[in-house]
Amino acid sequence: MLDQGAPPHHRGQTTAPPSPGLGARLMRRKPVDRLVAEGGQGEGGSLRRSLGLWQLTMISIGATLGTGIFVVLGEAVPKAGPAVTLSFVIAGLTALFSALSYAELAGTIPVAGSSYSYAYATMGELIAWICGWCLVLEYGVSVAAVAVGWGEYLNELLDGTIGVTIPNTLSAPPGDGGIFNLPALIVVLLAMVFLLGGAKESARANTVMVCVKIAALVLFCAIGVQGFRSGNYDHFMPLGMAGVSAAGATLFFSYIGFDAASTAGEEAKNAQRDLPRAIMLSLVIVTALYVLVAAVAVGAKPWQRFNDSEAALAQIMRDVTGQSFWGTLLAACAVIAIASVVLTVLYGQTRILFAMSRDGLVPKVFGKVHPKTGAPRANTVIVSLFCGVLAAAIPLGRLADATSIGTLFAFALVNVAVVLLRRTRPDMPRTFRVPLSPVLPAVGFGLCVWMMGSLSAVTWVVFGVWMAVGLVFYFVYGYRRSHLANAEK
Ligand code: ALA
Repeated sequence: MLDQGAPPHHRGQTTAPPSPGLGARLMRRKPVDRLVAEGGQGEGGSLRRSLGLWQLTMISIGATLGTGIFVVLGEAVPKAGPAVTLSFVIAGLTALFSALSYAELAGTIPVAGSSYSYAYATMGELIAWICGWCLVLEYGVSVAAVAVGWGEYLNELLDGTIGVTIPNTLSAPPGDGGIFNLPALIVVLLAMVFLLGGAKESARANTVMVCVKIAALVLFCAIGVQGFRSGNYDHFMPLGMAGVSAAGATLFFSYIGFDAASTAGEEAKNAQRDLPRAIMLSLVIVTALYVLVAAVAVGAKPWQRFNDSEAALAQIMRDVTGQSFWGTLLAACAVIAIASVVLTVLYGQTRILFAMSRDGLVPKVFGKVHPKTGAPRANTVIVSLFCGVLAAAIPLGRLADATSIGTLFAFALVNVAVVLLRRTRPDMPRTFRVPLSPVLPAVGFGLCVWMMGSLSAVTWVVFGVWMAVGLVFYFVYGYRRSHLANAEK
């Protein structure tokens, strides 16, 4: 076999240009104009532009607000005490700096691949693949983790309404005391049905669910504040700054998803104008709600009594009012809230794979669009089954941190991408510009790295294994089938 990297005279040819070496091939960048021009196109049809600013904002809020505040808060309070409010602010700031970079890039390169595509345009194929693989952690694996949280609140709701709960055998995976987590599978399949109907229909259902969850959190604050005891704040930081940052890293999970609007770049009616706005708007709304809810929760219940409680907010409602009704109502809203996270995050995952498939890095089937609904049908079914089975059969309780580390890595890359694109394509029209670039993207990058450093060694090992599997997949599949590479031959 001929060595593709060898100079032409070694191959007995004088006319063919030399093939690029391995390094150059891995660093090949996809031209931004090509990325934008290909927007919407899939195998056999194209995605439909049907989403406006309101729906895009709801997609981002839908993907963000859920398990983090309803479930993970209960795990974070024992780490930081009342200073958990500060942890939310720190995690929110990390998200904010990266959100600025997302907003600029989403407005400049409005395509379904989100940070994967931004990395492809600025840092080359290998980094883009790594970023895309991290996004599978952010989206695909988090769907599964979130679906598990849904089952916990469903049981709370069933208990409060009809007095029965789904037995552990059928509501927990092997390793967590059960055989199969049926509720987790059900919620993913329900989301799949909505997504198969098309982006517009899914966005409509999501909007209703988001309104319910915001109303539920406002109601929680209104009721919880009646049980507020300032004495609960006497020792604000009982476990020091280390506790605050450890809780912040855990709570970062609750901010994952604000970037989901950027995966709708090919279905937005006016992507360049609306995507940056939707990303920033959703982050501001979500951060305000988180800090408020955390402040009320810790004020209403001494931090020492948060004991990894599975349905923390519902219990506080019950304790404050002395009536089970309010706790049950909150559980019902949480069931709806978390279902909307599953719906929108699943949506994001299908669109990212859609973009990767268009580039040849994952199989073609992920890029096929149904001519009637404009939805990537096979892609949606495959991703849903994968996430559903993962959620049902694997103990995912601790996977939230693994999801966070993958997301932080992708966010760090977005902060680099924004600076690189300013240098390589200063001419491109930008509807939003990160102020003080490159200083703010550098701060965003630093915060992501710092927060990754606050995660446990086990999380790093999981991340290392995940990346190794991803690299093997790339070299076995994507490296050979990349459309960019094959076009260069
Ligand atoms: N941020 C999303 C949640 O908290 C993943 O459920």
